[in-house]
Amino acid sequence: MTDLIPELRTPTAPEGTGRVRSGMPVSRVDGRAKVTGEARYAAEHEAPGLRYGVVVSGTIARGRITAIETGAALAVPGVVEVLTHLNRPKIRSWDLAYKDMTAPGGSPFRPLFSDRIFYSGQPVALVLADSFEAARHAARLVDVRYEQEAHETNLLASLDQAYKPRPLKAGFTPPSSTGDADKAWNEAPVKIESQFYHGVEHHNPMEMHATTVLYGEDGHLTIYEKTQSSQNNRWYVSRVFGLPKEKVTVRNPYVGGAFGSGLRPQYQLTLAVMAALRLACPVRVVLTRQQMFSFGHRPETWQKVKLAATADGKLSAILHEAIQETSRLEDYVEVVVNWSGQLYACKNIKLGYKLVAHDRHSPIDMRAPGAAHGMHALEVAMDELAYRLRIDPLEFRRINYADRNPLEDKPYSAKELSQCYDKGAARFGWKDRPLEPRSMRDGEELVGWGMATGMWDSLVMLARVSAVFHADGRLVVSSAASDIGTGTYTVMSMIAAESLGLPLERVTFQLGDSTLPFAPVEGGSSHVTTVGGGVHGACDKLKKRLVRLTKSMPGSKLAKARPQDLEFADGKVQLRNRPETAVPLRDVLAAAGVDRVEEKFFMKPSLLKQRKYTRAVHSAVFCEVRVNEKLGIVRVTRVVNAVAAGRIISAKTAASQVIGGVVWGISQALHEESFTDHRFGRFMNHNFAEYHVAVNADVHDIQVIFANEDDRIVSEQLGAKGVGEIGIVGVSAAISNAIFHATGRRLRGTPITPDKIL
Ligand code: MOS
Repeated sequence: MTDLIPELRTPTAPEGTGRVRSGMPVSRVDGRAKVTGEARYAAEHEAPGLRYGVVVSGTIARGRITAIETGAALAVPGVVEVLTHLNRPKIRSWDLAYKDMTAPGGSPFRPLFSDRIFYSGQPVALVLADSFEAARHAARLVDVRYEQEAHETNLLASLDQAYKPRPLKAGFTPPSSTGDADKAWNEAPVKIESQFYHGVEHHNPMEMHATTVLYGEDGHLTIYEKTQSSQNNRWYVSRVFGLPKEKVTVRNPYVGGAFGSGLRPQYQLTLAVMAALRLACPVRVVLTRQQMFSFGHRPETWQKVKLAATADGKLSAILHEAIQETSRLEDYVEVVVNWSGQLYACKNIKLGYKLVAHDRHSPIDMRAPGAAHGMHALEVAMDELAYRLRIDPLEFRRINYADRNPLEDKPYSAKELSQCYDKGAARFGWKDRPLEPRSMRDGEELVGWGMATGMWDSLVMLARVSAVFHADGRLVVSSAASDIGTGTYTVMSMIAAESLGLPLERVTFQLGDSTLPFAPVEGGSSHVTTVGGGVHGACDKLKKRLVRLTKSMPGSKLAKARPQDLEFADGKVQLRNRPETAVPLRDVLAAAGVDRVEEKFFMKPSLLKQRKYTRAVHSAVFCEVRVNEKLGIVRVTRVVNAVAAGRIISAKTAASQVIGGVVWGISQALHEESFTDHRFGRFMNHNFAEYHVAVNADVHDIQVIFANEDDRIVSEQLGAKGVGEIGIVGVSAAISNAIFHATGRRLRGTPITPDKIL
């Protein structure tokens, strides 16, 4: 029986919201809880006797700790303990115990495991005190001595050490090739060759990574945690500390953004649990904004793209290779080049992908991992080739439109990209664009229009969902899903409410607790297809059960009705469009002598069927930039992002996802730049003052269009596909291409800062 867990403070739509249909722009059901403070985030849970943990971060990139002096820290009033690798409680030594559900191949980093230092910023001690202030002060007094070893953190200086990800270790199949791309490129009349460099980017969600461990009288740990999967982190804690499942509950009902940083347990969780077990009391550990730069990042990437075409603009060769950094511990793989073999019609394609191991923390997924950089390179290169051919860049893409995946010769599950081109171009006014660069000017500013295509994978995974209909007319649907700000509460509530014909305020979707039915991580834009498919399935079973109960009521007017002639509306079941036949569901439950009916559904997509298709979402991004050549300032004044992502369930939260992606794309294109001092192997600008992210002043008109698409291969139940990641893909390329159109300058890497314009 799945009941509401009061501590989660699960939101429900306000009274008066009424009936909803998919595709409607419904305001998020958790909105009120978030703006009033009713929603509690991981660091906002209180408990008597709570201890505060502050992390001491290491200062060398590679070597070992020779001594840790903790006396001065322990002497600070209020400090109760300083945990280091020398005195920590028992943890598993077997590195497999640290492998969470999304770990790449290799040996995961183990916090406070030994004296080894793998990267600068590595946690080396946790200071615990009865106030945050005492812990923070004492953390500065911990004196750590090291023996340093030579380190490497410079990608461009170590490209010659690149290796192919070890297939077994990385669980990864290398990208394939078709035809003879080298020969085709060499012999082609029109061709380009370009290199791209992208530096590290860091996750900066509003909410810092934080853990509050509540310590129960029986030793049960209830952990409020910033994560994209309560169950992933529950599993991790159980394995690392050897605790049975019943001893640990992880909750994440509200998450203030994550963008991939919460796909794996981060070290503050391990440290907080260590401390709670050592002190047998509740503990909270919150990372500082600076420490948010020390647990994984979008990896530094080098790419080379070679494209060739016939004189009339047909692509004859696509060659794309990438080299990306990983840590020495794990083969973190994001297959940067894959989309280059899936998007455009071409007979000769050659893809390559390699890694370089550095003395860094393993990179971790960040919104559209791989595609964000890989599609940037492909789409800037496409623009270059279009100009070499003197063909309009949009027209060039239409000429090379693929109706089948050219690399694997497979059909697409659905691909309404041509609608994106048509609708996006019409809304933007692309037809009025002069081909020639530097041909539009407005006062001091050069104006440029650029475009790019976007592509991202469409995933669907396994999930379990429970749906309970109560005699008072409320429907409670549950799954251990997450809502990292993306709209999960809203979308799932809408699917359930529409299915049972209930007003939205009668439906509550409960997520964010590891004891709920299984759900995968909220990642890879897969929650709507996966959990949403499960919600649809559970509600469908519930409807069938309620129909059976209605028909078997004593003297039922509907006894002979065929199930397909019945409909659910406003808490009643009736013959379609015949309200006079309506039977309140309350009466149905009463007649059956129950006060609730529960159904469970196991969402299990047919992978065999799926594999026959290339499953992806597509987009066309159009943008306008204004460039002040005297000051080097670029403003992105207009963006139209047209997206084909199957049926859109929640028009408002889906559009918000795409807008967020565009904002990040602007940030990536113009602002975000991480500087490493390679002498120390350390990120130097680990703060908001020096690591710039786009702010409101950088964001102007952003318009989102959704194509009509229905994808029953990816989502049999809903026809939907995820939109969490596609919004960012192609944006930085469109901006780079628009800057070329404005200025005639081809700037390939990001960020395009004023010094590069001048
Ligand atoms: Mo997303 S990078 O799959 O959280």
